[in-house]
Amino acid sequence: AAKPIQVKLVLLGESAVGKSSIVVRFAQDKYTPNREPTIGAAFLTQKCRLDDGKVIKFEIWDTAGQERFYSLAPMYYRNAHAAMVVFDVTKAGSLTKAKSWVKELQRQANLNAVIALVGNKVDLVQPAPVDVDGDTDAGSGTANQDTLDDTEAAVAAVSSAQAAAPEARQVSTEEAEAYASEAGLMYFETSAKTGQGIEQLFTEIAKKLPTD
Ligand code: GTP
Ligand code: MG
Repeated sequence: AAKPIQVKLVLLGESAVGKSSIVVRFAQDKYTPNREPTIGAAFLTQKCRLDDGKVIKFEIWDTAGQERFYSLAPMYYRNAHAAMVVFDVTKAGSLTKAKSWVKELQRQANLNAVIALVGNKVDLVQPAPVDVDGDTDAGSGTANQDTLDDTEAAVAAVSSAQAAAPEARQVSTEEAEAYASEAGLMYFETSAKTGQGIEQLFTEIAKKLPTD
């Protein structure tokens, strides 16, 4: 078997955006609803096999986002091959914090490091599965029943589900993508809770790395 390629990866971002949850979902396929904040940093490893047969061994430093641990971060990002800068799509302030991490990385870290911006917690802003042809109240209110074709029904169903969503999205995909492309970052949206986008996040980073 091929020798695994070791990749040192660091996660950065405001406290509670879901860094540890992303790593634990990737490494153990588990999710804890009320996770305690990380103290200092946590270290995990996980392998991943690419389509071309290469095996990547991620050595992951999951840093603590609380302000009091800020000064430790350089120890973890200094020699990193890749960095994930995570924010919460329901908290605009967490994107501001992410941008300051990106600036710091681009100033201080390994210039060849691959940096990915990650918008986490998308499960909170997605419509719940809708029973389109069932007896939901999607068509209530002022919807014009006799001209409600499939498209309109779908739109009505989606908007009613969004109205019921517990959280509002504060960072649109477009805004995050625009910033990422301007700053030269990859952009991913994930949910550590459902697992959406997690495998792809790590795999795409692995593919971007020079591995020869
Ligand atoms: P620090 O270690 O303090 O920097 O925080 P962190 O970024 O590691 O956040 P953590 O993974 O501890 O998650 C914070 C809270 O958000 C926990 O209660 C998680 O269960 C929750 N959480 C994390 N990811 C998601 C997600 O994708 N969706 C939802 N709904 N909640 C999430
Ligand atoms: Mg953590």
